[in-house]
Amino acid sequence: MCGIVGYVGGREAVEVLLDGLRRLEYRGYDSAGVAVLNGQGLKLAKAVGRLANLEAELKQNPVHGNVGIGHTRWATHGAPSVRNSHPHVSYDNRLGLIHNGIIENYRELKAELQGQGVKFQSDTDTEVVAHLVARVYQGDLLKALAEVLPRLRGAYALAMVHEGEPGRVVATRMGSPLVIGVGEGENFLASDVPALLKYTRRVIFLEEGQLADLGREGVRLHGPDLSLLPAKVHVTDLTLDAAEKDGFEHFMLKEIHEQPRALAETIRGRITDGRLDLAELGLTAETLKRVRRVALVACGTSLYASMVGKHLFERFTRLPAETWSASEFRYADPVIDDSVLVVAVSQSGETADTLEALRLAKARNALSLSICNVMGSSIPRTCDGTLYTRAGPEIGVASTKAYTTQLAAFALLAGGIGRLLGRVSEAREAELVQGLMRLPGQVKALLDKDIVAVKRCAKKYKDVFNFMYIGRHFNHPTAMEGALKLKEISYIHAECYAGGEMKHGPLALVDANLPTIAIAPRGGTREKLLSNVQEIKARSGVVVLVATEGDAAAKELADYLIEIPDCAEELSPILAVVPLQLLAYYTATQLGRDVDKPRNLAKSVTVE
Ligand code: G6P
Repeated sequence: MCGIVGYVGGREAVEVLLDGLRRLEYRGYDSAGVAVLNGQGLKLAKAVGRLANLEAELKQNPVHGNVGIGHTRWATHGAPSVRNSHPHVSYDNRLGLIHNGIIENYRELKAELQGQGVKFQSDTDTEVVAHLVARVYQGDLLKALAEVLPRLRGAYALAMVHEGEPGRVVATRMGSPLVIGVGEGENFLASDVPALLKYTRRVIFLEEGQLADLGREGVRLHGPDLSLLPAKVHVTDLTLDAAEKDGFEHFMLKEIHEQPRALAETIRGRITDGRLDLAELGLTAETLKRVRRVALVACGTSLYASMVGKHLFERFTRLPAETWSASEFRYADPVIDDSVLVVAVSQSGETADTLEALRLAKARNALSLSICNVMGSSIPRTCDGTLYTRAGPEIGVASTKAYTTQLAAFALLAGGIGRLLGRVSEAREAELVQGLMRLPGQVKALLDKDIVAVKRCAKKYKDVFNFMYIGRHFNHPTAMEGALKLKEISYIHAECYAGGEMKHGPLALVDANLPTIAIAPRGGTREKLLSNVQEIKARSGVVVLVATEGDAAAKELADYLIEIPDCAEELSPILAVVPLQLLAYYTATQLGRDVDKPRNLAKSVTVE
């Protein structure tokens, strides 16, 4: 959701900025732009659409300098166009500014500035900040920014340069991510760590409300009152390889194939001597005594992981659990108090709605945990404890390895809490532990099999207009996630229903032109789902069936059979989703879609 980068040092700034933006393009690709200082004023380049267009523009009209800022946009206020592209420039053309987030009170600020005669160049919310800072600027950009911040409402990561101070980049954040890269004789900033890895692994995670002052020789952090703050430098263990495609055609395919390793990483150290071990969360039977209910909050794919999480919590802890779309939770006046355990689930750790839902829960004294993939991001920093999924950077906009590792994390968390509460017997725990440990190998076997039926289905059905996905209980969310994957990257419409609901309406849609993807692995609802499949077949429907290896009844019913290894039903969503990810992937590639950057979407949604 908009990516920002900044550089000050001895290199050609444009090269560093473009490299950073390339690694942040998953955050938005409606337009891109850079602003560079070279002692002769502010030089700008902008282009609508993908970063490649900006690169082409810069080839035609190069800009040189050693200090600069860059931006890749996901449009919120104002259509994708050159005039709405960042960097935005102040009315005196001396200050360039980039922004990720939304300035909620921009209308009133804009009216005020227009009243003072300021002419606006764009339809964005961001431009007001450039003018406000320019108005109070008296030779010190940091001071001017600090003076303006109390006037801004909303979420922002901001970075700016001023031609009056050609060796300086100034930045701040509130509600949107920003990380500083510390180099030798050069310093960097970016929305996310992978954009920095080519140059440095030493990073500072800027805290909410802090200001950063970057020069060639150093980085200084300040509080809102400009008091100097100590800077905590972390050495990240992420590597550049993890953020490259590694021979795969798309990040999404690479990330699907990384699932065995990602799952092994998620489980690593959390099973000790054959028992679930959540010591890192510091949870005890005593801390959990107050918990009467569990509420799971998330968005998108993480929301579907939470729906599986609800069933895992109920099965292993016998506590009632509910799942909330974070954007609904915030405005529903939810019944939350200190007897509720709230778990926020997020790959990025920055999704604005999930973060705000978590803050609301905390304000109501809930015990709060998160399942998150990005170390040091806002959600883990806001809650009482985090189970990191350790999937490595996920770059493809359509989430894959983040999802399956979230499911594994839920199994660990729900099983572990159930054990602490004395509601999971040793035998049951041993069964879960063994199931978890087999998962990486089972997913690998599934991927190695090169699921021919998936590719055949993708080829056969790529031109249909609608798909139906059905599943029950643990695999109803699997069906929802499968349908979402298909919609996101192939742009084919897909509906999802719990199998038992088909006869209450959606069965009317069934004919020979509507393929149904049915998820029916071994487990309590398998037979029921197979009956739902019979009802579809009786109405000339075509069915692609995902079932456990060796299921003869499934084989007989299916038009296309996709077999997954046998496992406990609680863990089956992890295996069953893999062919659905591949089905979406191959359908989208057959249609020539841009799989890693689907239209209108972005990863890490830092606006509400
Ligand atoms: C966006 C992404 C989805 C993701 C959702 C939640 O919509 O495109 O892939 O599931 O945000 O993101 P989070 O980082 O909170 O899991």
